Amino acid sequence: MHFEELLAGDGRVEPRDEMPDAYRRTLVRQIAQHAHSEIIGMQPEGNWISRAPSLRRKAILMAKVQDEAGHGLYLYAAAETLGVDRADLLDQLHGGRQKYSSIFNYPTLTWADVGAIGWLVDGAAIVNQVPLCRCSYGPYARAMVRICKEESFHQRQGFEILHTLAHGAPAQKAMAQDAVDRYWWPSLMMFGPPDDDSTHSAQSMAWGIKRFSNDDLRQRFVDMTVPQAEVLGLTLPDPEIRWNDERGHYDFGAVDFTELFEVIKGNGPCNRERMAHRVAAHEDGAWVREAAAAYSAKRAEAAA
Ligand SMILES: [Fe+2]
Ligand SMILES: [Fe+2]
Repeated sequence: MHFEELLAGDGRVEPRDEMPDAYRRTLVRQIAQHAHSEIIGMQPEGNWISRAPSLRRKAILMAKVQDEAGHGLYLYAAAETLGVDRADLLDQLHGGRQKYSSIFNYPTLTWADVGAIGWLVDGAAIVNQVPLCRCSYGPYARAMVRICKEESFHQRQGFEILHTLAHGAPAQKAMAQDAVDRYWWPSLMMFGPPDDDSTHSAQSMAWGIKRFSNDDLRQRFVDMTVPQAEVLGLTLPDPEIRWNDERGHYDFGAVDFTELFEVIKGNGPCNRERMAHRVAAHEDGAWVREAAAAYSAKRAEAAA
């Protein structure tokens, strides 16, 4: 079936179908950026594995960080169905030619940050990613179904960490509040710039890659999160949050996007550290890739 007909009938585009070059390029850029975000996102939380407050917390956090590595692998595999090579994608990340989500350029200063990341960052990721399960490109949509199931576990584990801290000693509650204060606004920025300044949105909507606008998704996240903050007994750092009966949504204050653009430009608190660590890990792993290639060559030889 032709591309336009497939889209019109809400069908899925599969790797062997014809597709416009620009559609393919957009998907490669988006899926690569998404894959990079998953693996860079292992760093801020990985930082706390050795310092988790109990064996139970450590086991859960290790599983969570490992899930993120798995998400990266599903997504690199989905990108490869579009005719690119993951080694090239990693080179582009390491060379600064492809991006990852700016949220991972913020530091994790306390254990409560692990809770705030699970609750807010994975929570925002879910709101962004659930509509991608219906994305027009089949392999990406199918990868997102699995990823979203795991993200909802991540979000609950973050909520549970914060719930425990918020109902603990006053110093623990203060630590939870401080983490939420620092992660709230960067989480709202995860939905991207306002609709009026979003360069790729309209075309992505027409192609069925994106289903809702940045501002609609941001609103959905606020509506979902405000009642959860009440259950936690924590305050979101925005005095303008209040229920608006007429709109049927929570109002909230204006997001300072100059900060987002600074972080995107490379000037966030941890941009340099994250990239340096990623590149070093890649170089340290060279022997594993070489050994795997040698082993598979040997097996192919033996089979022949
Ligand atoms: Fe993930
Ligand atoms: Fe996650």
